Amino acid sequence: MDEASLAVVAKKRMADTVKRRLASLGILRTSMKVFSDDKYVYFPVKRVPNPDELPELITGDALIQEANFDKLVPKPKTLKEAMMGVLDEKLMELVPRSFDIIGNVAILELNEGLRPFAKDIASALKLVHKHVDTVLLKTGPSTGEYRIRPYDVIAGSGNTLTEHREHGCKYRLDVREVFFTPRLSGERLRVASQVRPNECVADMFAGVGPFSITIARMQPSCKIYAFEINPTAYKFLEENIKLNKVEDRVTAIFGDVRHNYRILEKKANRLVMNLPFSADKYLDVAIRLAAPSGAIVHFYGAAQDENAVETVKVNVSSIINSLGFNAKFLWAKELKEVAPRKVVVALDIAISMR
Ligand SMILES: C[S@@+](CC[C@H](N)C(=O)[O-])C[C@H]1O[C@@H](n2cnc3c(N)ncnc32)[C@H](O)[C@@H]1O
Repeated sequence: MDEASLAVVAKKRMADTVKRRLASLGILRTSMKVFSDDKYVYFPVKRVPNPDELPELITGDALIQEANFDKLVPKPKTLKEAMMGVLDEKLMELVPRSFDIIGNVAILELNEGLRPFAKDIASALKLVHKHVDTVLLKTGPSTGEYRIRPYDVIAGSGNTLTEHREHGCKYRLDVREVFFTPRLSGERLRVASQVRPNECVADMFAGVGPFSITIARMQPSCKIYAFEINPTAYKFLEENIKLNKVEDRVTAIFGDVRHNYRILEKKANRLVMNLPFSADKYLDVAIRLAAPSGAIVHFYGAAQDENAVETVKVNVSSIINSLGFNAKFLWAKELKEVAPRKVVVALDIAISMR
């Protein structure tokens, strides 16, 4: 008990009625905790209600007295708020404003100075996001063919198998075993909303299926071929196709897209090339997959200079031209800084045979 207040004390059987009346009068103090004993419930109030406002004062079902109440500590709304008072001002500036949450796994990226406080920050994050179980700390970049990142578990059970929801779709995945980023959720919607009925789409680097499945759910008449080389990602891709009930529209193909592109029954009108650091090496495969009359390529590339968009465009158009196709750039955007001076670029490209 740490603060005295005027209280309305109601007989237990009348407590709900009294609470409703006090709340509608706007005199209930919400910063203090209501408590009860064997017979009565104690409500902290801002002023004494009139008997005509609270008839229970006349019938003897409620009375007014002073009581001591516990203060209610408001739940922090952000990670920064939750860390207030734990770190000094300088360190507080380093606390990240944003972080990724995939299902019930949160992923933190921390400045060196905050590393000694990683566990405190992870606990604070769990306080703000109650549904989060495991908190991971990024310990390196996404690398290798499978684009997997190393992490340390800094809070929770350490279970990284989870189910993530996005745009009404569900994705089962293991954060440690496959590539997945919620930061591309806007891109998935942008690409899927361009797809027209009956298109044939090739998702050349499909991962656990977020582009393919978003497209399949938004445009049910489409046929989508989803290629994936990581056996674990492929297993989740197959599972997610079933989970989202798009088996009739999405075909998952295991292995290197370079060796499997012939599987398509017809040529693709649209291609998704989400492999930023090496998609350019697969433009020749894209051209073999694409309808010669024309196709749209959603290309994700990376560059290290200030004119990332221009650099990627020049590289892509010279490769496409050398393969006997024209490239017309329809749209371009810098997506995010993935490492110092490295920028991922999204391009929509119309390609057609010369
Ligand atoms: C950057 S991730 C993108 C995954 C997915 N499109 C997404 O948005 O979450 C690239 C994926 O392509 C797969 N991959 C890499 N090289 C491949 C290849 N040659 N053929 C098929 N898949 C490949 C990786 O295993 C990885 O899952």
